[in-house]
Amino acid sequence: MDNNKNESLVKKGSLWFPEKASTEAYHVDSLFNFILWASIIMFIGITAVLVYFVRKFKRTKDNMVAQAQIIHNVKLEIIWTVIPLIITLFIFYWGIEGYFKMTVPPSNAMEIRVTAKKWMWQFDYASGTKSIGELVVPVDTPIKLVMSSEDVIHSFYAPNFRIKRDVIPNRYTRIWFEANRTGQFQIFCTEYCGDGHSDMMGTVRVLSGADYEKWLKEGDSGADMPLDKLGEKVYNSKGCATCHSTDGSAKTGPSWKGLYGSTRNFNGGGSTKADDNYIRESIVKPAEHVVAGYQPVMPTFAGILNDREINGVIEYIKTLK
Ligand code: CUA
Repeated sequence: MDNNKNESLVKKGSLWFPEKASTEAYHVDSLFNFILWASIIMFIGITAVLVYFVRKFKRTKDNMVAQAQIIHNVKLEIIWTVIPLIITLFIFYWGIEGYFKMTVPPSNAMEIRVTAKKWMWQFDYASGTKSIGELVVPVDTPIKLVMSSEDVIHSFYAPNFRIKRDVIPNRYTRIWFEANRTGQFQIFCTEYCGDGHSDMMGTVRVLSGADYEKWLKEGDSGADMPLDKLGEKVYNSKGCATCHSTDGSAKTGPSWKGLYGSTRNFNGGGSTKADDNYIRESIVKPAEHVVAGYQPVMPTFAGILNDREINGVIEYIKTLK
Protein backbone atom coordinates (compact mmCIF):
# COMPACT_ATOMS: atom_id res chain seq x y z
CA MET A 1 0.00 0.00 0.00
CA ASP A 2 1.71 3.15 -1.15
CA ASN A 3 1.77 6.06 1.21
CA ASN A 4 1.72 8.92 -1.22
CA LYS A 5 2.74 11.92 0.85
CA ASN A 6 1.36 14.42 -1.64
CA GLU A 7 -2.15 13.09 -1.57
CA SER A 8 -4.04 13.67 1.63
CA LEU A 9 -6.64 11.12 2.54
CA VAL A 10 -8.64 13.66 4.56
CA LYS A 11 -9.46 16.18 1.85
CA LYS A 12 -12.96 14.85 1.26
CA GLY A 13 -15.74 15.92 3.59
CA SER A 14 -17.43 19.13 4.68
CA LEU A 15 -15.87 22.53 5.28
CA TRP A 16 -15.28 21.66 8.95
CA PHE A 17 -14.78 17.93 8.94
CA PRO A 18 -13.28 15.16 6.85
CA GLU A 19 -15.61 12.34 5.81
CA LYS A 20 -17.20 10.36 8.61
CA ALA A 21 -16.15 6.72 8.82
CA SER A 22 -17.02 5.58 12.34
CA THR A 23 -20.16 5.01 14.37
CA GLU A 24 -19.27 7.80 16.83
CA ALA A 25 -18.36 10.40 14.23
CA TYR A 26 -22.00 11.40 13.84
CA HIS A 27 -22.28 12.28 17.55
CA VAL A 28 -19.10 14.35 17.55
CA ASP A 29 -20.19 16.29 14.46
CA SER A 30 -23.71 16.97 15.67
CA LEU A 31 -22.49 18.36 19.01
CA PHE A 32 -19.90 20.48 17.22
CA ASN A 33 -22.51 21.78 14.79
CA PHE A 34 -24.94 22.54 17.60
CA ILE A 35 -22.34 24.59 19.51
CA LEU A 36 -21.23 26.31 16.30
CA TRP A 37 -24.74 27.34 15.27
CA ALA A 38 -25.81 28.27 18.82
CA SER A 39 -22.74 30.55 18.99
CA ILE A 40 -23.46 32.09 15.59
CA ILE A 41 -27.11 32.76 16.45
CA MET A 42 -26.21 34.24 19.85
CA PHE A 43 -23.46 36.37 18.34
CA ILE A 44 -25.81 37.80 15.72
CA GLY A 45 -28.60 38.32 18.28
CA ILE A 46 -26.40 40.08 20.83
CA THR A 47 -24.77 42.26 18.19
CA ALA A 48 -28.16 43.26 16.80
CA VAL A 49 -29.49 44.28 20.26
CA LEU A 50 -26.24 46.14 20.95
CA VAL A 51 -26.47 48.14 17.73
CA TYR A 52 -30.16 48.84 18.35
CA PHE A 53 -29.46 50.23 21.85
CA VAL A 54 -26.52 52.31 20.66
CA ARG A 55 -28.80 54.03 18.16
CA LYS A 56 -31.85 54.30 20.41
CA PHE A 57 -30.00 55.79 23.36
CA LYS A 58 -27.59 57.94 21.40
CA ARG A 59 -26.67 61.24 23.07
CA THR A 60 -27.81 64.12 20.85
CA LYS A 61 -27.98 67.93 21.08
CA ASP A 62 -31.52 67.72 22.38
CA ASN A 63 -30.77 64.90 24.73
CA MET A 64 -27.48 65.56 26.55
CA VAL A 65 -28.37 63.62 29.65
CA ALA A 66 -29.00 59.93 29.74
CA GLN A 67 -32.63 59.03 29.98
CA ALA A 68 -34.16 57.50 33.06
CA GLN A 69 -31.54 55.18 34.55
CA ILE A 70 -32.63 51.61 34.90
CA ILE A 71 -30.36 49.93 37.42
CA HIS A 72 -32.17 46.69 38.10
CA ASN A 73 -34.69 44.38 36.47
CA VAL A 74 -35.33 41.05 38.14
CA LYS A 75 -37.27 39.56 35.25
CA LEU A 76 -34.48 40.34 32.75
CA GLU A 77 -31.75 39.03 35.05
CA ILE A 78 -33.57 35.74 35.52
CA ILE A 79 -34.09 35.39 31.77
CA TRP A 80 -30.47 36.00 30.85
CA THR A 81 -29.23 33.69 33.59
CA VAL A 82 -31.61 30.79 33.20
CA ILE A 83 -31.62 30.50 29.41
CA PRO A 84 -27.80 30.30 29.03
CA LEU A 85 -27.70 27.94 32.02
CA ILE A 86 -30.10 25.56 30.32
CA ILE A 87 -28.11 25.74 27.08
CA THR A 88 -24.76 25.07 28.79
CA LEU A 89 -26.19 22.23 30.89
CA PHE A 90 -27.60 20.73 27.74
CA ILE A 91 -24.19 21.00 26.02
CA PHE A 92 -22.48 19.56 29.12
CA TYR A 93 -24.83 16.57 29.20
CA TRP A 94 -24.45 15.96 25.49
CA GLY A 95 -20.66 16.26 25.74
CA ILE A 96 -20.12 14.08 28.78
CA GLU A 97 -22.45 11.40 27.47
CA GLY A 98 -20.36 11.27 24.27
CA TYR A 99 -17.12 11.41 26.24
CA PHE A 100 -18.07 8.35 28.29
CA LYS A 101 -19.18 6.52 25.19
CA MET A 102 -15.91 7.27 23.43
CA THR A 103 -13.75 6.50 26.47
CA VAL A 104 -15.11 3.12 27.49
CA PRO A 105 -14.63 0.48 24.79
CA PRO A 106 -17.43 -2.08 24.38
CA SER A 107 -16.57 -5.34 26.15
CA ASN A 108 -16.51 -7.27 22.87
CA ALA A 109 -13.97 -4.92 21.26
CA MET A 110 -11.08 -6.46 19.35
CA GLU A 111 -7.78 -5.40 20.88
CA ILE A 112 -4.84 -4.16 18.82
CA ARG A 113 -1.62 -2.87 20.35
CA VAL A 114 -0.14 0.34 19.01
CA THR A 115 3.49 1.24 19.53
CA ALA A 116 4.64 4.70 18.55
CA LYS A 117 8.30 5.48 18.04
CA LYS A 118 10.30 8.05 16.20
CA TRP A 119 8.86 8.11 13.55
CA MET A 120 6.50 5.30 12.86
CA TRP A 121 3.40 3.50 14.02
CA GLN A 122 3.61 -0.21 14.74
CA PHE A 123 0.49 -2.35 15.16
CA ASP A 124 0.42 -5.76 16.86
CA TYR A 125 -2.59 -7.99 16.34
CA ALA A 126 -3.78 -10.77 18.66
CA SER A 127 -2.91 -13.37 16.03
CA GLY A 128 0.78 -12.37 16.12
CA THR A 129 0.63 -10.40 12.89
CA LYS A 130 2.44 -7.05 12.87
CA SER A 131 2.10 -4.10 10.58
CA ILE A 132 3.99 -0.85 10.28
CA GLY A 133 2.42 2.43 9.24
CA GLU A 134 -0.86 0.77 8.37
CA LEU A 135 -3.56 -0.32 10.77
CA VAL A 136 -5.76 -2.97 9.20
CA VAL A 137 -9.18 -3.52 10.76
CA PRO A 138 -12.45 -5.23 9.88
CA VAL A 139 -15.51 -3.08 9.22
CA ASP A 140 -18.45 -2.93 11.69
CA THR A 141 -16.32 -4.26 14.54
CA PRO A 142 -15.39 -2.26 17.66
CA ILE A 143 -11.60 -1.93 17.80
CA LYS A 144 -9.77 -1.12 21.01
CA LEU A 145 -6.31 0.36 20.61
CA VAL A 146 -3.93 -0.11 23.54
CA MET A 147 -1.18 2.38 22.88
CA SER A 148 2.28 3.08 24.24
CA SER A 149 5.38 4.92 23.09
CA GLU A 150 8.96 3.69 23.01
CA ASP A 151 10.47 7.14 23.28
CA VAL A 152 8.73 10.53 23.50
CA ILE A 153 5.08 11.56 23.60
CA HIS A 154 3.23 11.07 20.32
CA SER A 155 -0.47 11.43 19.65
CA PHE A 156 -2.66 9.13 17.59
CA TYR A 157 -5.15 11.02 15.46
CA ALA A 158 -7.54 9.47 12.96
CA PRO A 159 -9.76 12.36 11.83
CA ASN A 160 -12.25 10.25 9.85
CA PHE A 161 -13.07 8.32 13.00
CA ARG A 162 -12.98 11.48 15.18
CA ILE A 163 -10.53 9.91 17.62
CA LYS A 164 -7.33 11.32 19.06
CA ARG A 165 -5.30 10.38 22.09
CA ASP A 166 -1.77 10.94 23.37
CA VAL A 167 0.60 7.98 23.22
CA ILE A 168 2.94 8.12 26.17
CA PRO A 169 6.11 6.22 27.17
CA ASN A 170 5.84 3.86 30.16
CA ARG A 171 2.09 3.98 30.20
CA TYR A 172 -0.81 2.56 28.23
CA THR A 173 -3.53 4.78 26.87
CA ARG A 174 -6.50 3.39 25.04
CA ILE A 175 -9.04 4.53 22.56
CA TRP A 176 -11.65 2.72 20.52
CA PHE A 177 -13.62 3.14 17.34
CA GLU A 178 -15.88 1.18 15.06
CA ALA A 179 -15.38 1.79 11.37
CA ASN A 180 -18.68 1.69 9.52
CA ARG A 181 -17.32 1.68 5.99
CA THR A 182 -14.41 0.14 4.15
CA GLY A 183 -11.62 2.20 2.64
CA GLN A 184 -8.35 3.85 3.47
CA PHE A 185 -8.07 6.65 6.02
CA GLN A 186 -5.34 8.92 7.37
CA ILE A 187 -3.49 8.70 10.68
CA PHE A 188 -1.53 11.72 11.90
CA CYS A 189 0.82 12.20 14.82
CA THR A 190 -0.40 15.35 16.55
CA GLU A 191 2.22 15.79 19.24
CA TYR A 192 5.45 17.45 18.17
CA CYS A 193 8.00 14.65 18.54
CA GLY A 194 11.12 15.77 16.70
CA ASP A 195 12.49 16.08 13.16
CA GLY A 196 10.23 13.48 11.60
CA HIS A 197 7.02 14.58 13.32
CA SER A 198 5.27 15.91 10.27
CA ASP A 199 6.11 12.74 8.34
CA MET A 200 4.88 10.46 11.11
CA MET A 201 1.77 9.49 9.25
CA GLY A 202 -0.01 6.24 8.74
CA THR A 203 -3.20 4.84 7.32
CA VAL A 204 -6.11 2.81 8.54
CA ARG A 205 -7.27 0.22 6.01
CA VAL A 206 -10.79 -0.97 6.73
CA LEU A 207 -11.59 -4.33 5.16
CA SER A 208 -14.68 -6.52 5.07
CA GLY A 209 -14.65 -9.31 7.67
CA ALA A 210 -13.69 -11.94 5.10
CA ASP A 211 -10.90 -9.82 3.60
CA TYR A 212 -9.58 -9.11 7.08
CA GLU A 213 -9.36 -12.82 7.94
CA LYS A 214 -7.57 -13.36 4.66
CA TRP A 215 -5.16 -10.52 5.40
CA LEU A 216 -4.39 -11.91 8.88
CA LYS A 217 -3.54 -15.29 7.38
CA GLU A 218 -1.62 -14.19 4.34
CA GLY A 219 -0.54 -10.66 5.15
CA ASP A 220 0.99 -8.63 2.38
CA SER A 221 3.84 -11.08 2.04
CA GLY A 222 4.65 -10.04 -1.51
CA ALA A 223 5.81 -13.63 -2.07
CA ASP A 224 5.20 -13.31 -5.79
CA MET A 225 7.03 -9.98 -6.19
CA PRO A 226 10.57 -9.55 -7.51
CA LEU A 227 12.93 -8.57 -4.68
CA ASP A 228 13.57 -4.99 -5.75
CA LYS A 229 9.83 -4.33 -6.14
CA LEU A 230 9.24 -5.85 -2.71
CA GLY A 231 11.97 -3.56 -1.35
CA GLU A 232 10.26 -0.53 -2.87
CA LYS A 233 6.99 -1.60 -1.28
CA VAL A 234 8.71 -2.00 2.10
CA TYR A 235 10.29 1.44 1.64
CA ASN A 236 6.85 3.02 1.21
CA SER A 237 4.82 0.95 3.64
CA LYS A 238 7.14 0.25 6.57
CA GLY A 239 8.21 3.75 7.43
CA CYS A 240 11.59 3.95 5.63
CA ALA A 241 10.36 6.83 3.48
CA THR A 242 9.89 8.99 6.57
CA CYS A 243 13.64 9.39 7.06
CA HIS A 244 15.33 8.26 3.84
CA SER A 245 14.92 9.87 0.43
CA THR A 246 15.56 8.10 -2.85
CA ASP A 247 16.55 11.22 -4.77
CA GLY A 248 19.73 12.19 -2.93
CA SER A 249 18.18 14.83 -0.68
CA ALA A 250 19.09 14.70 2.99
CA LYS A 251 16.36 13.90 5.49
CA THR A 252 16.68 12.63 9.06
CA GLY A 253 18.70 9.73 7.69
CA PRO A 254 21.05 9.43 4.70
CA SER A 255 19.49 9.17 1.24
CA TRP A 256 19.39 5.75 -0.40
CA LYS A 257 20.37 7.17 -3.78
CA GLY A 258 23.87 6.05 -4.69
CA LEU A 259 24.20 4.36 -1.32
CA TYR A 260 25.15 0.89 -2.51
CA GLY A 261 28.87 0.53 -2.99
CA SER A 262 29.65 3.99 -1.65
CA THR A 263 32.07 4.67 1.20
CA ARG A 264 30.39 5.42 4.50
CA ASN A 265 32.23 7.44 7.15
CA PHE A 266 31.02 6.92 10.67
CA ASN A 267 30.47 9.09 13.70
CA GLY A 268 33.48 8.50 15.92
CA GLY A 269 35.74 7.49 13.04
CA GLY A 270 36.09 4.48 10.77
CA SER A 271 34.51 3.80 7.44
CA THR A 272 33.29 0.97 5.28
CA LYS A 273 31.97 0.24 1.83
CA ALA A 274 28.19 -0.07 1.78
CA ASP A 275 27.67 -3.69 0.77
CA ASP A 276 24.89 -6.20 1.52
CA ASN A 277 26.21 -6.96 5.01
CA TYR A 278 26.52 -3.30 5.92
CA ILE A 279 22.96 -2.52 4.79
CA ARG A 280 21.59 -5.53 6.64
CA GLU A 281 23.39 -4.42 9.80
CA SER A 282 22.01 -0.90 9.41
CA ILE A 283 18.48 -2.32 9.30
CA VAL A 284 18.68 -4.70 12.26
CA LYS A 285 21.30 -2.91 14.39
CA PRO A 286 21.09 0.70 13.24
CA ALA A 287 23.03 2.13 16.19
CA GLU A 288 26.13 0.02 15.48
CA HIS A 289 27.58 2.26 12.75
CA VAL A 290 25.98 5.69 12.41
CA VAL A 291 26.97 7.70 9.35
CA ALA A 292 28.88 10.89 10.19
CA GLY A 293 26.61 13.89 10.55
CA TYR A 294 23.50 11.89 11.53
CA GLN A 295 21.92 11.15 14.88
CA PRO A 296 21.50 7.57 16.15
CA VAL A 297 17.71 7.80 16.03
CA MET A 298 16.73 4.90 13.80
CA PRO A 299 14.81 2.12 15.57
CA THR A 300 15.77 -1.48 14.85
CA PHE A 301 13.75 -3.38 12.28
CA ALA A 302 14.78 -6.77 13.66
CA GLY A 303 11.61 -8.82 14.04
CA ILE A 304 9.66 -6.32 11.96
CA LEU A 305 11.06 -7.10 8.51
CA ASN A 306 11.55 -10.73 7.57
CA ASP A 307 14.63 -11.91 5.66
CA ARG A 308 12.95 -11.66 2.30
CA GLU A 309 11.93 -8.08 2.98
CA ILE A 310 15.46 -7.16 4.11
CA ASN A 311 16.84 -8.71 0.91
CA GLY A 312 14.21 -6.74 -0.99
CA VAL A 313 15.37 -3.48 0.57
CA ILE A 314 19.00 -4.26 -0.33
CA GLU A 315 18.02 -5.04 -3.94
CA TYR A 316 15.90 -1.88 -4.10
CA ILE A 317 18.80 0.24 -2.84
CA LYS A 318 21.00 -1.30 -5.56
CA THR A 319 18.60 0.07 -8.19
CA LEU A 320 18.91 3.64 -6.83
CA LYS A 321 22.08 4.68 -8.59
CU1 CUA B 1 5.14 11.39 16.69
CU2 CUA B 1 4.77 13.74 16.28
